[in-house]
Amino acid sequence: SPIKRSAIALVTPLPPQPSAEAPALLLTIRDLTGEAQLSRMRADFVANASHELRTPLASLKGFVETLQGAAKDDPVARVQFLKIMQQQAERMSRLVEDLLSLSRIEMREHVAPTAIADLSAVADEAVGALEAAARESAISIEKSVPSGDWQIQGERDELVQVAQNLIQNAIKYGKPGGKIVVSLDREGDRIAFAVKDDGIGIAPEHLPRLTERFYRVSAKESRERGGTGLGLAIVKHIVNRHRGELRIRSTVRVGSSFTVLLPAKTVQKPNT
Ligand SMILES: Nc1ncnc2c1ncn2[C@@H]1O[C@H](COP(=O)(O)OP(=O)(O)O)[C@@H](O)[C@H]1O
Ligand SMILES: [Mg+2]
Repeated sequence: SPIKRSAIALVTPLPPQPSAEAPALLLTIRDLTGEAQLSRMRADFVANASHELRTPLASLKGFVETLQGAAKDDPVARVQFLKIMQQQAERMSRLVEDLLSLSRIEMREHVAPTAIADLSAVADEAVGALEAAARESAISIEKSVPSGDWQIQGERDELVQVAQNLIQNAIKYGKPGGKIVVSLDREGDRIAFAVKDDGIGIAPEHLPRLTERFYRVSAKESRERGGTGLGLAIVKHIVNRHRGELRIRSTVRVGSSFTVLLPAKTVQKPNT
């Protein structure tokens, strides 16, 4: 669809030139489309984030009132309501954690990482942290890491976050009783870190928008699984910082694969 462009024009009369036949004007046009788009995106983001936080907050307030009033002397209701309140509070802290992660990463996005990270250790750490969660859904995680040099120039903690967000999604949207494959491969002068599941899959029309903040195929399903809608936005920013690329392939009811392509560490040529 065509985008609406906006611009500002500035007209300045130039001092009369004795040689000129007519008076001259200087016309400057500045395209403001990019800036307008950026400020609209920022406003949308603040509105979305506030809305996401307001929902669990409203629920918490409602239950506090009920526990102070109608359910004051009802021990059964108390147990049940406190459990819901705990879930809502946890939801709020996940949101705040993700929002903070996002802003921290955004601040560093234009600073290239200088540390060296080993992607096979990154994969091990992420899988280790999520094995228990996978087992709860009867999902097995298989690692396919051929022996080799998997070092890149990168920030280990950020790369672990990428791996964890992708594996977490594979568990959340995977098939109960299914399998997740976490793999490392060489692709030319890049390393491909891939997470593949055999879950619900994603229809093609959603693919281009998945890394947008708060974009979800189904907000309800994401929420039920403890999602915030920020995981892939975080992944995208970290991948950008590492001069990498995120490739998503998916087929509905067959499964999805999320591949992060990262430049391999340049090998020092031996001195001759
Ligand atoms: N492995 C996957 N299989 C199916 N859908 C996925 C997968 N990973 C992500 N998605 C879709 O992309 C959306 C955005 O993902 P993400 O940013 O991680 O947010 P969420 O908190 O919902 O997991 C999800 O809500 C889901 O609709
Ligand atoms: Mg997620």
